[in-house]
Amino acid sequence: MRRAEASAPGKIILFGEHFVVKGYRAIATSTSLRARVSVEEIREPGIVIESENLNIKGSLNLNLEGNVPRELLVYVEILRALRERGFNMIPHRARLKSSMPISAGLGSSASTSVAYALAYTALHGDPLKGRDLLEVSLEGEKVAHGRPSGIDNTIATLGGTIVYRRGEEPLKVEVNIPEGYTFLIADTGVKRSTREAVEHVLKLAESLWKIASLIYEAADKIVEEALKALKTGDVKTLGPLMYVNHGLLNAIGVSHEKLDAIVYEARKHGALGAKLTGAGWGGCAIILAREGDIENLAEKISKHTVTIEKAKINVEGATIDYNS
Ligand code: PMV
Repeated sequence: MRRAEASAPGKIILFGEHFVVKGYRAIATSTSLRARVSVEEIREPGIVIESENLNIKGSLNLNLEGNVPRELLVYVEILRALRERGFNMIPHRARLKSSMPISAGLGSSASTSVAYALAYTALHGDPLKGRDLLEVSLEGEKVAHGRPSGIDNTIATLGGTIVYRRGEEPLKVEVNIPEGYTFLIADTGVKRSTREAVEHVLKLAESLWKIASLIYEAADKIVEEALKALKTGDVKTLGPLMYVNHGLLNAIGVSHEKLDAIVYEARKHGALGAKLTGAGWGGCAIILAREGDIENLAEKISKHTVTIEKAKINVEGATIDYNS
């Protein structure tokens, strides 16, 4: 019986979330928190998909018809997209595991989708790569998020750090954060729906476009400056750009009292920069800090968070970790 295992990284959006949905640029980086999927061929004619930590357990017919449990819709769409590309349906059991919190803006659903599509195609002996892997996994994300920009799946596929504009080839970004500085991820523990936050922003942008367009333009300029600062390791510019980006996200209504409190405390206690990351309304904030300040910052921020962790960024993209 064949078996394959694949993994893909989660992400943090450094700059430009939400604005990216309407075709402006955003910068995302991969993190060492990974989703892992093992796919094992089985004798029974069906597909079993399960995950303890994602709270998923269900089965599907090999023809992908019939009553599909809601939490399996993402994977059904991935399998349908693969079938269209000529992959036959192999009876299998998929075990999914994500090492990042779900609905927190760290890319757990996209990285799980990418790892599943890669593991399943590796089982066929024909693993998808690059654009093909991205496109197939994105079919899953459309079920989860409605109108995804594609940034999460792109970074889960390619890894590294990218500047992303909808409909264009992502470009790799050089990152040279100097020794002694680090990004922290602070999780508010507040779960929220990316789909609803995105719809809220799109409605607001439509009704106030004369003003909103200026905010979108400003966010794009932040990305432009941030690209230079990341390359040269200019943390003294990068930090303030994060604070300004947070202000713009607040202006379009996707912050949260806990996110604002984290950003406020970070600024007050010497962080170089801080902002919400991902869809907002909860989820996570990121903080750029001197290593020596981490302990104090973590203590000051702890009452607004469930976890604060150092983020290892700019890591490898999707990989096949086992194939027999
Ligand atoms: O699902 P999240 O929290 O990682 O948010 C995704 C980023 C958005 O820009 C808000 C949406 C998108 O599709 O790009």
